[in-house]
Amino acid sequence: MNLQNLAYAIDQSIHNLGAVSVTGGAILALLSGAARRKLAWVVLSGWGVQGMTGALFGILSYAFYGHLPDIAGIAVDALVIKMACAVSGFFLAAFYLRQARTGSMNFWRIEALLAMVALTAASFLRWFS
Ligand code: HEM
Repeated sequence: MNLQNLAYAIDQSIHNLGAVSVTGGAILALLSGAARRKLAWVVLSGWGVQGMTGALFGILSYAFYGHLPDIAGIAVDALVIKMACAVSGFFLAAFYLRQARTGSMNFWRIEALLAMVALTAASFLRWFS
């Protein structure tokens, strides 16, 4: 088995699960009143996972090819948008958890919006790189 493909596939699998956590967690919280604090932890962890596994893509590229992925233009814009969503989603969830305000519907609306913007940007990163 090709070690490089395996490493990318494992990283991508965890990255995809992180995407499910942030999107699914926020939508579930909007649709159901239950377990919002637990869902906020799921969403917070999901953003953290996205940041770490996203960075790991770069590390793997550096390890196997000696340089970062060669992307430009729209792909770079999409990557920056994804990173901005991950950072804002993470700190927003941390702030609301700390303030014990995870019942706020606006908080969940923003989290769901950030997740959807990040997912859309992922498509542009994929097809413009
Ligand atoms: C620090 C933040 C992030 C970084 C550095 C990052 C980086 C990456 C990279 C390098 C890829 C591979 C692109 C390719 O196939 O050419 C990728 C794929 C992907 N990312 Fe992220 N990402 C981040 C955040 C997110 C977030 C927040 C989401 C969704 C909520 C997300 C969803 C996806 C998805 C679904 C793919 C697979 C796209 C496909 O192959 O069709 N990423 N990401």
